[in-house]
Formats: sequence, structure tokens, C-alpha cells
Amino acid sequence: MISPLATDKHAAVECIDVRRDFQDGTRVIKVLQGTNLTVYRGEFVAIVGASGSGKTTLLNLIGGLDTPTSGQILVDGKDITKLNDEQMSEVRRHKIGVLFQDQHLLPIFTALENVEVPMLLDEIKTEERRKRAMKLLEMMQVDHRAQHMPHELSGGMRSRVALARALAMDPAVLLCDEPTGDLDHATGAEIIQLMRNLAKKQNRAVLAATHDPETARMADRILLLRDGVLVDELVGDYFKPSRVEVRARGSDPSAAEESSS
Ligand SMILES: Nc1ncnc2c1ncn2[C@@H]1O[C@H](COP(=O)(O)OP(=O)(O)OP(=O)(O)O)[C@@H](O)[C@H]1O
Ligand SMILES: [Mg+2]
Repeated sequence: MISPLATDKHAAVECIDVRRDFQDGTRVIKVLQGTNLTVYRGEFVAIVGASGSGKTTLLNLIGGLDTPTSGQILVDGKDITKLNDEQMSEVRRHKIGVLFQDQHLLPIFTALENVEVPMLLDEIKTEERRKRAMKLLEMMQVDHRAQHMPHELSGGMRSRVALARALAMDPAVLLCDEPTGDLDHATGAEIIQLMRNLAKKQNRAVLAATHDPETARMADRILLLRDGVLVDELVGDYFKPSRVEVRARGSDPSAAEESSS
């Protein structure tokens, strides 16, 4: 699947015939059965599919948190299925940012410190680290809460802090699993817009697994995970209002955002 938005010579994410089986007692569950996917920098791709279809499994594989039964996964051109633990954690820290529904912000650290955490292993000087973390919080418009503890923040603010943390190491790829699952509609819409901006304005590849039609509608492509493979025919038509309809309503937020950049 070659994207018209392709600008880099290699894709940010490429899955080639990826299979993932799980053993359940004596039974083998074949979750991914030959999944192919190509995502370039600058793209925001939604992955939809029934509960249990394997969306999280796929994101975990791309994020290097799990290993496929067979197949290749290339992140920024590098086959991560061939890496040892040390090389893998290097790729995870520098190439991939993750945003999951339950944000896993560390409860004993402030918002600012949470964003600094991924930078600790890179021996970045304290002052520089703090400056970078603050800049990311500013970008996410939550810098006024930098010194607050996670429990003092709203769900939307926690998502913004988690997004800032995911970007700490300037990743090529951002993986989001149900990023709006816990949020009210308006807050969810803001987070989707932020994710879209991260693809469009910062040239990252953003992949979001979601059940939320609003998230899917904002994506460049919607891929359906069905019977262990990704398909894109008809899904876009189902989730996306037609261009004509969008123009008639005069409310294509992506068009506004992209023309203003
Ligand atoms: N570690 C595991 N061991 C055994 N089975 C697993 C494991 N991880 C996932 N599965 C199974 O793989 C299938 C896909 O799970 P997955 O969490 O990827 O689905 P999903 O599409 O993300 O669902 P949801 O929309 O509910 O989040 C399920 O049947 C699940 O039970
Ligand atoms: Mg899931």
C-alpha cells in the first residue's frame, strides 16, 4: 500500500506478512494472520476493528513490546524483529512514542518530571532536560500545570502530559491505543487534533487504534482489521463524510489547520 503522502525514501512503519499466534492451553489463537501495513511520516492512520480483532496486538508489535510469530516489522527502515534486547530498547526509546488509554503517568512525579523521564537514560543535562520537557508541555498547552501531580490534573490534561512525554525523544512514530477512550467528546476532539498536528506539522507517522468514529474521521486513512488482516476498502466511505458534504458544512477542521500552517 503506497501512500500519496510519501516524502521520505523509506516508510516510518512497514509490516510485512506479520503473524501473531497466542497459545491458549492446547488451542492456538491466530490473531494476526498476514498483516501488511505501510505508514509514512506525515500520515495519521486509524486502525479500527471489532474488539479482540488484534489492534492492540499490532501496536504492541510495532512498538517492540511483543514479537511476531513470523513476518517483518520495519521501523524507520530497520527490521526490529532481528534486534537483540539492547538494540530493541534503543529503537523503542528513540524512534517510538506511545500513548495508551490508561496514561501510566508516574503518580509520585509532577507533570514536568513525567515528561523528563524518557530523557533520563540519555544523560541529558538536567537544565537541558527541563527546558525540553517544558517546551513540550507548552506545545501541548499544559505548561501552566507543569508542577502539578497527575492526580491533580483532568483526564484531558493527563492525555496532554502523556503526549508530551511520548514526544520526549522526538520519535518518528507515535502509537496511540484508544487515545480518546476515557475522555469526554470535546476533550477527545482536542486530543485528536493534537495527534493530527503531530503528523501534519511535525512530520511524524501517527497510528491510532480506536473504536471512536470521530478519531477515524480525522485520519488520512482508516484501515479495518478483519480476520487478522488489514483492509481499507469501503471503510473510509463508512466513516468519512464526503468532501462535498464537508465543504457544504464549511467545517473541515483538518483543512483549516493545514492551510494555517
Ligand atoms: N498475551 C496474550 N495471550 C493470549 N491471548 C492474547 C494475548 N494478547 C492478546 N490476546 C488475544 O488476542 C486477541 C486480540 O486482542 P487485542 O487486545 O489485540 O484486541 P483489540 O482489537 O485491541 O481489542 P479491543 O478493541 O477490545 O481493545 C484477543 O482474542 C485476545 O484475547
Ligand atoms: Mg485494544
